[in-house]
Amino acid sequence: MDDKLKAIEQEFQQAISNADSLDTIENIRIRFLGRKEGLVTNIFKQLGTVSPEQKPLYGQKINHLKDLVTQEIDNKAKQIEGQIAKGVSQKASKGFDITLPAFKQTIAKAHPLTLVRDEICSLFIEMGFNIVEGPEIETEYYNFEALNIPLEHPSRESFDTFYLDKKHLLRSHTSPVQIRYMENNQPPIQIVVPGKVYRPDATDATHSFMFHQLEGLLIDKNITLAHLKGVLSVFAKKLFGPKTKTRFRPHFFPFTEPSAEMDVSCIICGGKGCRVCKYNGWIEILGSGMVHPKVLKAGNIDSKKYSGFAFGMGIERIAMLKYGIDDIRLFYENDLRFVKQFS
Ligand code: PHE
Repeated sequence: MDDKLKAIEQEFQQAISNADSLDTIENIRIRFLGRKEGLVTNIFKQLGTVSPEQKPLYGQKINHLKDLVTQEIDNKAKQIEGQIAKGVSQKASKGFDITLPAFKQTIAKAHPLTLVRDEICSLFIEMGFNIVEGPEIETEYYNFEALNIPLEHPSRESFDTFYLDKKHLLRSHTSPVQIRYMENNQPPIQIVVPGKVYRPDATDATHSFMFHQLEGLLIDKNITLAHLKGVLSVFAKKLFGPKTKTRFRPHFFPFTEPSAEMDVSCIICGGKGCRVCKYNGWIEILGSGMVHPKVLKAGNIDSKKYSGFAFGMGIERIAMLKYGIDDIRLFYENDLRFVKQFS
């Protein structure tokens, strides 16, 4: 009898210490305390096999075992329930604890180049221009020939170019879109063309192999240099403030005749002279000119009937002046500490 009790207790201890779920505990309860076949229940039935003198002793021993089993099953069940409750409350607190500090919401900001591009575009939209875009991968015809830049001509050098293969290149300016637009539209034409351009320049504080330009083209009957000066002077005042003065210096571009570069009175010192304007009071901001008759012809526009002007500016350059940025590379590094400062 003693051996049997010992064996039952050992088996029980083993089972209860391995139990890891409420289901296993219920199975243990049935195996040891089950009313019909429970091991502890059955052993009571065997009390009849011991001598009458020993009955009270074994009765006590069996009761003792029963209490022990009951108690340990209860303890283990409570322990597992506790663990489950803890897990649930941990999960709940992740989603629902309203005392936890909220996650910081960061609001997206537009890149400074996007801001400046959009601002310039809106100024021209106010003056009646439409926004047009063109491909970044171009042919020699659109990037050079149609713009009166002969293939074997030194002027070609200022538009040094990345070639993709014999036929294709990355456009070195936005001017090819002039031709593409003229091919499909007759005057009046009044467009601005923002976009990326590429030149194999060594990168430094003011040069990048990719940058952004904004091209303008206006063609109609009786358009003169006075229109060019008027539109671009108004643009400069709208962009840099009403006190901004402009001057036009003769220049050369193969696709315009006559051609001029436009300077604005220094937006930092107002013309007195400072580091930004290199102490001469003026800052060059764009190239312009009257559209060359050969260019009109390439665009299928009758140069006897129509005339027009074109201009092109670098968006980075204007953004740098406007925000006082002294290194073009900052635009492309996407350091959020830089990008977030504008809006
Ligand atoms: N395409 C010229 C450049 O990239 C700019 C320009 C455009 C000049 C239109 C005159 C007219 O430098």
